[in-house]
Amino acid sequence: MPFGHNEYGRETSRQRPRSVSGEPAHRFVLDGHQPSAAVPRHRDRSEDLGFSPGLGAILCHSVGAIIMTMKTSSRPVALQDFVSELRKFPEAAFVETTTILNFLQTTPVSPDTLAPYLTWDRQHYTRNLIDKTPLYELLAICWEMGQVSSVHNHRDQNCWMAVPMGRLLVGNYRVIFQDLNAGKCRLEPADTVEINPTHPCAVDPGEPVHRVYNPREFNERAVSLHVYSRPFDTCVVYSPEQGTCGEIKLHYTTECGKPSAKTT
Ligand SMILES: [Fe+2]
Repeated sequence: MPFGHNEYGRETSRQRPRSVSGEPAHRFVLDGHQPSAAVPRHRDRSEDLGFSPGLGAILCHSVGAIIMTMKTSSRPVALQDFVSELRKFPEAAFVETTTILNFLQTTPVSPDTLAPYLTWDRQHYTRNLIDKTPLYELLAICWEMGQVSSVHNHRDQNCWMAVPMGRLLVGNYRVIFQDLNAGKCRLEPADTVEINPTHPCAVDPGEPVHRVYNPREFNERAVSLHVYSRPFDTCVVYSPEQGTCGEIKLHYTTECGKPSAKTT
């Protein structure tokens, strides 16, 4: 494997990010929306099972039996069981990165069970909402060969990524200077890591600016699962080459397996 990993999926060799052709593929529009400010709250057993009507959570599928041995198994599990387990974590697990990263490492998702959430577009990658609670949102992002995200941040929210299908590269950047009001920035490339079915990663909260891409030379589609905590609906995108940055609004391609209503 050409890239090493550590806790944050950061490269352990000296290799720099590869150049990837093509324009950033985010289908976003500029606006001034702020991330949602969900209120932390305690969960009870019924919510752990995914039944929390009226509490702001979205559950796209029925939840099956709890798998008690899940955290010691590396065999792929059904998506619905993955979600059931993810919903058990308390707020504290999403404040730091190790607990959820360990969960992703020990709980790979069976690709077959992702089918209802996979959509493909030759023009840009797709963002498909699987589950959303006040604590987190879970997305499947589908990458055709050669597709690449903008360089972006996560609004100071934690992010974990697993790749049940194919493999992807994450190119990290250091922000040397940023003036969002002026739309100016200066970034320099940091490290690049590969994520794949056996190597999930957590975005480093101390250096959270990155882009994700599926190089053509990998020669296959890829699907990544993203856990964002807390959910956010805007982010900052950067052009390292032009030294510009700006806030954009994020959209889902599908929600719960159905096309999202377009707002723009
Ligand atoms: Fe990201």
